[in-house]
Amino acid sequence: MVALQYVETGCIQQNNQLNPDSFEMQIYAPQIAQRAEPGQFVMVSCSEVGRSPLLRRPLSIHDVHGDTLTLLYRVVGEGTAVMAAMGTGDPISLLGPLGQGFTIAETDHHCLVGGGIGIAPLLLLARKIAWTQPKAGITILAGARNRQELLALEKFAAMGTLHISTDDGSEGQHGFVTQLLGNMHDTALAVYTCGPTPMMQGVAKLCREHGWGCQVSLESHMACGIGACLGCAVARSGIHAGADKYVHVCKDGPVFNAEVIWA
Ligand SMILES: Cc1cc2nc3c(=O)[nH]c(=O)nc-3n(C[C@H](O)[C@H](O)[C@H](O)COP(=O)(O)OP(=O)(O)OC[C@H]3O[C@@H](n4cnc5c(N)ncnc54)[C@H](O)[C@@H]3O)c2cc1C
Ligand code: FES
Repeated sequence: MVALQYVETGCIQQNNQLNPDSFEMQIYAPQIAQRAEPGQFVMVSCSEVGRSPLLRRPLSIHDVHGDTLTLLYRVVGEGTAVMAAMGTGDPISLLGPLGQGFTIAETDHHCLVGGGIGIAPLLLLARKIAWTQPKAGITILAGARNRQELLALEKFAAMGTLHISTDDGSEGQHGFVTQLLGNMHDTALAVYTCGPTPMMQGVAKLCREHGWGCQVSLESHMACGIGACLGCAVARSGIHAGADKYVHVCKDGPVFNAEVIWA
């Protein structure tokens, strides 16, 4: 099946600051919103044509309501700083929905593990699990460096059982989110994770040890977002040469079964 992708000029409905460097932007963009799947992303143009930054920036689709999609983003550089300065009624150019998102496993218990801004793609996933498997349990494990960096907690709490950890102990369990996952004992768990690479590697290792299925949403630098520039290539585990050695995060991912990347 050919996946439809659009270049769509959306209209910003809200751009709310959540903490000193994080924002939630709601955009009326019906073509993309109606086709977005959990784990997919959009390439956002953060500037007018010909102005810096020239390249679009990849951001996960955090949530969808009707014709409106929501992005949850942290300001880290030029492009996201331009986005933070945008306001209600401003146009914003999006390319999407892009990539291969999460595949919802057939199981009784789903566990979503997010670290920092990596929590972003997990809300739409929780919504789709709740919608397609209303009897399945959903546990959300949200980790961050401190209380201020925990995001969208009320929305996640409404979707399932929420456990929190912070590196400095200012909220929830003191420690890493992987420790929360280590406390899970369900044998039929399906795990989905997004966050810093060391955290996801820790999640993947625990899943391997427990025999849990694990899907990871990778980040990499992206120039095109559609498989044309090869800038987002990541080495697969266990393949040392040949055409199959690399996957492209934008086209083959960003979501992969963990064992494809980390054996
Ligand atoms: C599929 C995908 C989904 C993403 N979803 C989100 C999201 O929902 N919310 C969010 O806040 N961020 C997300 N990101 C990361 C986001 O794309 C970058 O933070 C953004 O492109 C930075 O742009 P900038 O111009 O502000 O910063 P730049 O000036 O380009 O860079 C600032 C710093 O951030 C680093 N950086 C830039 N891009 C990336 C990247 N792709 N991966 C790792 N480090 C990077 C640079 O090395 C530099 O140190 C996602 C990335 C990918 C690949
Ligand atoms: S970003 Fe260009 S190929 Fe992936």
